[in-house]
Amino acid sequence: MAESMTGLKRTHRCAELSEANIGEKVTIMGWVQKNRNKGGLVFVDVRDRSGLIQVVFEEGSTDKALLEKAAKLRSEFVVAIVGTVEKRSGAVNENLATGAIEIKPEELRILSESETPPFPIEENSKTKEEVRLKYRFLDLRRPDIQRNLMMRSRVATLARQFMAKEGFLEIETPFLIKSTPEGARDYLVPSRIHPGSFYALPQSPQLYKQLLMCSGFDRYIQIAKCYRDEDLRADRQPEFTQVDMELSFVDVDDVIDINERLLAHLFKEVLDIDVQLPIQRMTWQEAMDRFGSDKPDIRFGMELVNVTETVKDSEFVVFKNAIEAGGTVRGINAKGQGGMARKKIDKLVDFGENGDLILFAADKNKVVWDVLGALRLELARQMELLDKNEYKFLWITEFPLLEWSDEQNRFTAMHHPFTMPMEEDLQYIDSDPGRVRAKAYGIVLNGNEIGGGSVRIFNQEIQSKRFEVLGFTPEQAQEQFGFLLNAFKYGVPPHAGLAYGLDRLVMLMAKQDSIRDVIAFPKVKDASDLMTEAPERVDPKQLEELGLELEEHTADAE
Ligand code: AMO
Repeated sequence: MAESMTGLKRTHRCAELSEANIGEKVTIMGWVQKNRNKGGLVFVDVRDRSGLIQVVFEEGSTDKALLEKAAKLRSEFVVAIVGTVEKRSGAVNENLATGAIEIKPEELRILSESETPPFPIEENSKTKEEVRLKYRFLDLRRPDIQRNLMMRSRVATLARQFMAKEGFLEIETPFLIKSTPEGARDYLVPSRIHPGSFYALPQSPQLYKQLLMCSGFDRYIQIAKCYRDEDLRADRQPEFTQVDMELSFVDVDDVIDINERLLAHLFKEVLDIDVQLPIQRMTWQEAMDRFGSDKPDIRFGMELVNVTETVKDSEFVVFKNAIEAGGTVRGINAKGQGGMARKKIDKLVDFGENGDLILFAADKNKVVWDVLGALRLELARQMELLDKNEYKFLWITEFPLLEWSDEQNRFTAMHHPFTMPMEEDLQYIDSDPGRVRAKAYGIVLNGNEIGGGSVRIFNQEIQSKRFEVLGFTPEQAQEQFGFLLNAFKYGVPPHAGLAYGLDRLVMLMAKQDSIRDVIAFPKVKDASDLMTEAPERVDPKQLEELGLELEEHTADAE
């Protein structure tokens, strides 16, 4: 039977107690971690978000009814305990923050009972993630995941405070917005009032933050939810969170400066790590040539070497064909790995694309970079060169403005269509669009893209040109982005911005491998939520109200 907590008030969280509290009468409330009954002596560990404390019910010093009640406690019961903090009678537990003390109870109330949980609530759980996510409300009780979410909260709070001090205003932007192409696929929301019409959920607040600059707000920040219907990975969720900012009257260096100070502040406050400023910068071209990646992990070397010149007269057909087709031959030198076991090398071959050599790749630049960039990381993993305690930041600058899409047979925006081209490259925008670099930048941490942004176009002419190169007719541009183009008619300040993936940043700070471990209720690979079973079919009446009809899909047909 559950008891009421009336008359009791929690005085401390469990692990807030220390030897300084010895002799004090305290009230704690929390979950029973475990209960060891030694006959006449019952040890109960009580847990809350701060940690554990041991409560000792002992024959003689505890009254009999209380001892019997304590013996009935099971894991995950919720209890309130009033008692006195004492020095531990037994050996000090060095592994526990409260290991030198214990509570001698005088009152125990069982506030709620618990069925046996489907898995133990413990650190570094061995339970499969699918099971944990189905019972996420229990999984979230585990100390490691609680620490991750507490760190996330702290990062968000510190970021807000820092930006407020720098004069940023927190302004919310809408979730139900107009669907705009480019980038990922939109999540759509049908409108009841306008049957057949849809809102989209924002892929980011991009257009709105630019409009806020047009409106004169000058410095904007938002911790914003973003929605992208794309394939999931360890660092990608269909809904994720950005720390999103935009600034007026600034150029690249101003954005970089404020963000370096923000990152240094976060790492100092949360991890007590001094980030060396300024953070190293590298152009996109250099990053691709040296690391085969636009988000290189620079915790280790093994840089790519371009050997096209050296092997250009080679009769080796793989090299010859690649070079003749305008490609390159590049390699990686895995230093000191000449003696690598055959089995390991075979594993790397499996990893490499068919037709490529293990440590050499010959093909179009993009293919060579992708293969060697990935191979370099795989080698580092196998050689155990990646240390989660080491944090290596890197700015990537001067991204190409456009990238060629074979699929669409046209140029697409590498970042988004509002990114300013570099002035000195504007001359090539018609003759050689692929050569134009953008005033875009990305911030990389240990091989992860944790943020990206750009200086924006604030001139209607350049913006219209930009749309033209992307294949929009003026009518299409007006139809899709008319509100932005209109705003550009009425005095636009030069502006620039950046957005972090908060999930990725916290994942790295918390030394986790997946952003799922720093998100309270994440989705799994097929974008479903194992706990609520969303997405789900809805009541036909709801569809009717929306003017929607479903084509019958069977599970087999999909
Ligand atoms: P971008 O698309 O680069 O830029 O996104 C910014 C950062 O958000 C994170 N991110 C993601 N994190 C988890 N799951 C995802 N699916 C996901 N997609 C992106 C990354 C990325 O660096 N509006 C621009 C920013 C700007 O120009 O100011 C934007 O959204 O860490």
